[in-house]
Parts: sequence; C-alpha cells; structure tokens
Amino acid sequence: MINKYKLSYNFKWWHAMSLACIFFITDVNASEGGPCKDYGECDKFKYSLNDMESLQSGASTFMNYCYGCHSLQYSRWGRVATDLQIPEEIFFDTLVFDKSIKSGDLMTGSMSKDSSVEWFGVAPPDLTLVSRVRGDDWIYSYLRAYYEDSSKQYGVNNLVYPGTAMPNVLMALQGSQKLICKNIPVIARNGGEKRDGTGKALTTEKCGFLEVPEGSGQLTKDEFDKVIYDLTNFLVYVGEPSKATRERIGWYVIFYFLIFTAVSYMLYREYHKDYH
Ligand code: HEC
Repeated sequence: MINKYKLSYNFKWWHAMSLACIFFITDVNASEGGPCKDYGECDKFKYSLNDMESLQSGASTFMNYCYGCHSLQYSRWGRVATDLQIPEEIFFDTLVFDKSIKSGDLMTGSMSKDSSVEWFGVAPPDLTLVSRVRGDDWIYSYLRAYYEDSSKQYGVNNLVYPGTAMPNVLMALQGSQKLICKNIPVIARNGGEKRDGTGKALTTEKCGFLEVPEGSGQLTKDEFDKVIYDLTNFLVYVGEPSKATRERIGWYVIFYFLIFTAVSYMLYREYHKDYH
C-alpha cells in the first residue's frame, strides 16, 4: 500500500553545509574567551528585586557616583521612587540634585554628549538597559575588577573590560586594588601537593590575582562587595522595572493551572461515571 502521507526528507548537500556553518559559528564564539575576558569566569550574581533596602541603597550609590556621567533615559524619576517605595519628598530631597526636575521627567543625565566625548574619547553609554545587554554577572564583576596600571590614562585598568575608558570612580571606597603574583603549590597528577626530596612543598609563581592593600579604602572587601551588589541589583531593576511583578504573576499562573487541572480532572471523572 502506498502511504501518500509518508514524510520524506530529500537530502541536499547544502543542508550539510548549513549545519556545518552553524557549528563553525558557535565554535568561533567559544574560542573567543568568556565575556569577562582576563578575569576568567564572571562572578555569579543573583538579583533580589523584592529587597527594597538593597534597591534603595543601589539607587543612592548610582545617583551619587554614576549619574554624573551615565543617564537612565528610559526611566522616570517618579516611577523609580514609587517602585522603590521611597516617599517622593524624601526621594527628591536626597537623591535628585537638580531642583527643576519633575516627577514625570525622564532621567536623561546631567552631562552633554559632546563634552563627554571630548573628555573620555567615548560618550558614557546610557545604562537603562545595560543589565539586559551585558548581563548582571558581567556588571557585578566589572565594577570590582579595576586595578592599578600606571600605563593607562587614569592610572587604572580593568580585567573584565581591558582598556576601559571609564575611570575607577569607586576607588575611594574600595581602595587601590593591585594585580599581584602569588606562589602557589604545584599539584601533582594524583591531586596532592608536589614535594622535593627534603619534603618541602614545591611552589610556582602565578600572576593575575586581584588584591586590595588592607586599609587603603574606606570599606572592607565585604562591605564594598555589598555596595556593588546593591548597585547591580538596582541596574537589573532599571532594565526591567516590572520584572518582580512579572515573576510574581508567573507563580500565580502556575498555581491557577494546578488548581484548574485538579478541577478539570474531577469533572472528567464525574462525566466518566456515565459510561459505566
Ligand atoms: C567620569 C565619568 C563616569 C562615571 C562617574 C561613571 N562612568 Fe561608567 N563609563 C564611563 C565611560 C566613559 C564608559 C565607556 C567605557 C568604554 O566603553 O571604554 C563607561 C562604561 C560603563 C559601563 C559599561 C557599559 C557598556 O556596556 O559598555 C558600565 C556598566 C558602567 N560604566 C557603569 C558605571 C557605574 C555603575 C558607575 C557608578 C559607580 C559609573 N559607571 C560611573 C564613564 C563614567
């Protein structure tokens, strides 16, 4: 019998070529190294958009240290105040430095594009969507990966974004982080430390570690990491202000489906009784 619905696949040579191309492109990306470049793996970041204290502290750091150069031009002042549960008077008194700004205005930044290009060579990009473009892991790593490098214009370089045109604006808080070398034990093939004839552990010099000299910044390492955590959390919020609501509603929808499935199953059983 001839089955006229039989699915047939006509192999053509260019099908194989297209597949090969896809593999090739994926491979080129893989061989370029990770997004965090010389830093290696980016540090993992887990946002917490219901933590108002963290978002408020992030907003405050942003207004004090970043807004001078970077705009958030797709956000409005009033929306940020409402979402972060900051009463408007307090928000405008403490975080909005230009008193002519109204609640419905966009956060268009305070620096003109022309003068910033003159100063930095590139205009500091708008950061509203940076968490969507670069990812939160990248931002969290980037802001903690500055180190002293006297060959650069601002005396600093960055492991995540080598040659960045952005100065290390948080240096006073973090301290002057340095790139150092360390002697680390040589690991033998069986997983143990290698030792010489006298039983002393063999070491080898490895470079590329970041270290902040004790006391060179106003904050300890943990406190500084928390400042950057809150700041990144705020940038994740700004990238999608309704994310927390969307995720909450998602759970309601799943809950609704569970209840609905249970009810329809009971209905199915009820109808089924008529067949017997
Ligand atoms: C003195 C001006 C200035 C300040 C202040 C500043 N930045 Fe920047 N920032 C820049 C410039 C210039 C660039 C572009 C760097 C480049 O592309 O080489 C940049 C780039 C960035 C990027 C990378 C954007 C991308 O996708 O390439 C992020 C993220 C960033 N800044 C975050 C911040 C945060 C957070 C703060 C506040 C702690 C801040 N910046 C403060 C000037 C500044």
